[in-house]
Amino acid sequence: MDSNQIRETFLDFFRSKGHRIVPSAPMVVKNDPTLMFTNAGMNQFKDLFLGNSPIRDRRVADSQKCLRVSGKHNDLEEVGLDTYHHTMFEMLGNWSLGDYFKKEAIEWSWEFLTSPDYLGLDPEHLAVSVFAGDEHAPRDEESYEHWRRMGLPEDRIFFLPKENNWWGPAGITGPCGPDTEMFLITDKEPCGPDCSPACDCGRYLEIWNDVFMEYNKQADGSYLPLEQKNVDTGMGLDRTIAVLQGAPCVYESDVFRPIITKIEALSGRKYEEGGEVQRAIRIIADHIRCAA
Ligand code: ALA
Repeated sequence: MDSNQIRETFLDFFRSKGHRIVPSAPMVVKNDPTLMFTNAGMNQFKDLFLGNSPIRDRRVADSQKCLRVSGKHNDLEEVGLDTYHHTMFEMLGNWSLGDYFKKEAIEWSWEFLTSPDYLGLDPEHLAVSVFAGDEHAPRDEESYEHWRRMGLPEDRIFFLPKENNWWGPAGITGPCGPDTEMFLITDKEPCGPDCSPACDCGRYLEIWNDVFMEYNKQADGSYLPLEQKNVDTGMGLDRTIAVLQGAPCVYESDVFRPIITKIEALSGRKYEEGGEVQRAIRIIADHIRCAA
């Protein structure tokens, strides 16, 4: 599948599960003093999570243009250094605004990832993480049980702390919650006996994140329960394409290839030269796409 087919397949799947498909919000955020750029699909739904605006559709899905260049979601300095960071990317997402919760979110993520009708990834090559619990929120046994029901063995379900398994708020305050993340297990050998999705050694490549938005972080650092329980998911389209196209690198996917070919033609340099040249070409490709 190329990028357009993956995007359409995702939106069709969630349409079939009763979601209304909405357009991407602009990448420059309006009316939110805590954010300059849209850094996640959930930004445009923040007021709905908080109960500040009336909810028209309780199930929505989209493909959102995101930019991560500031605050704690800042990937700017990583661009070009590895094979999968970039500043602007498309995030596929589905949302429950006070409707379904952990059970359906996990079942649908699993179905979309593994069913031959959708992405058809090998379940043996997938691992997940769930929230280990702390003083703000309990250990997420419920998500663990749902993953076990999907057939995941215990040793591919990792309980990780807030640092890894909590998402949000997108700015300083606002909706947030524990999450469960899905990883492709790559061919890289485990980096040690404690190798897990938390260690960033490259064995586990994150492809999707289901966030259970049930808290509202306050300016004083406390977490108040939200009135309604929400689901916020995000799957990086570009990374998913790279995984499905068997390209080890997002820059070699159908999204970036034409841009890189043009840069090569204009500069007379080749991406395959590697090293600094390759890094520079990735940075130009990333930044020019983002600016456009
Ligand atoms: N908001 C979540 C993320 O960006 C889904 O990963």
